Amino acid sequence: MRERREELDELARGLARTPKTVSSRYIYDERGSELFEAITRLPEYYLTRAERGLLTRIARGLIGEVQPRALVEFGAGSARKTRILLSAMTEGGRAAVYVPVDVSEDFMFDTARRLRDEYPSLKVRPEVADMTRGLRPAARPPAPCIYALLGSTIGNFTHEEAVRMVAGLSSGMRDGDVFLLGADLRPGPGKSLESLEAAYNDAAGVTVEFNRNLLRVLNARFGTDFDPSRFRHRAWYDAANTRIEMHLEALSAHAVALPGGPVISFREGETLRTEISCKYNRAAVSSLLEQAGLEMVRWWTDEGCRFALALGAVTSGGGSP
Ligand code: AVI
Repeated sequence: MRERREELDELARGLARTPKTVSSRYIYDERGSELFEAITRLPEYYLTRAERGLLTRIARGLIGEVQPRALVEFGAGSARKTRILLSAMTEGGRAAVYVPVDVSEDFMFDTARRLRDEYPSLKVRPEVADMTRGLRPAARPPAPCIYALLGSTIGNFTHEEAVRMVAGLSSGMRDGDVFLLGADLRPGPGKSLESLEAAYNDAAGVTVEFNRNLLRVLNARFGTDFDPSRFRHRAWYDAANTRIEMHLEALSAHAVALPGGPVISFREGETLRTEISCKYNRAAVSSLLEQAGLEMVRWWTDEGCRFALALGAVTSGGGSP
C-alpha cells in the first residue's frame, strides 16, 4: 500500500496539470466495482460480451494447442469469463491449477471457494497482489501456464505503463507458457465511432455514476470536498491518441480544498481527466508485446471486429530460468 502522504502528493501534482488528472485506480472502491459490474451488463458496453464470445469460440483450440497445467489471471475479480477457459482445461477431470491475482480480496476468496466446488480437479491458489506494479505470482505455477490479462484492462494504462506492466507480469514465463491479452479495438470497418463512444456514454447513466463515484472516493480517502453534483460526465474518443478519455467537467467555476495542500480552482467547463481507455489494432498489440519481450503468435477478433485476443510467447532467448 502506498503511503497516504505519497498519494496526496501525487493527487496534488495531478490536479496542478493541464488538463487536471487523477489516477483511475481510485475508481474501484466497493461501489466503483459494483458499478463496473453493472456497466459490463449494459447494452452499449459490448466489450465484455464480445470478449466472452471470442473466448468461447477459441477456448478448446487454445487449450488443445497449449495443453496448460495452470492459468494465472491478473485482475481476476469475479472470474466470470475465466470459467470458459477453466472448463476447457479441466475437461474429463484433468487436473489444473488456477491462480487468480487481484489487488482486492473482496470477490476473490468467495470465487475461489465456488470454483473449487464447481471444478473438483482444480487447485485454486488466490494471490492478493497489485498487478499494476508488474508483480508476478509468488509461487511459480506448473508449466505450461496461460497468463491472462483480460477485459481490456490493459487499455487503462499509458503505453509506457502497459509495456512495463506486461514485461513484469510475464517475466517468469518459460518456453511453452503463453500470455493471453484482451484488447478493445479502434473504430474501423465494422466498428463505428458512435458505437465505441456509446459504450462510455450509456443511456441509463451508470457510467456517469461510475465516474462521479471517484470524487466520493477522493473525499473519503483524502478529506477533499469535491461535490459530485457540480460535475458532469464526459467521454469521447481521442483519435490522435487512439483512446477514450473520460473526464468530469465543472458545471460552474468553484474551488475544492485539498487538505494540507493548495486550494484547487475549477473554471466553468474545465475538466478533470479520470480515466483513459486505450484502443488497439493488430500492429499496436504486436508492438506492445514485443516491447515487453514477447512475440505475438496468435491474433483473434470477434465477428464485429470490435474486440481482440492476442497470444504472446517468450521470444527465443527470452524468459527467466
Ligand atoms: C475496466 N476497464 C477495462 C473499463 C474500460 O472500458 O476501460 C473501465 C470503464 N470505464 C468506463 N466504462 C468502463
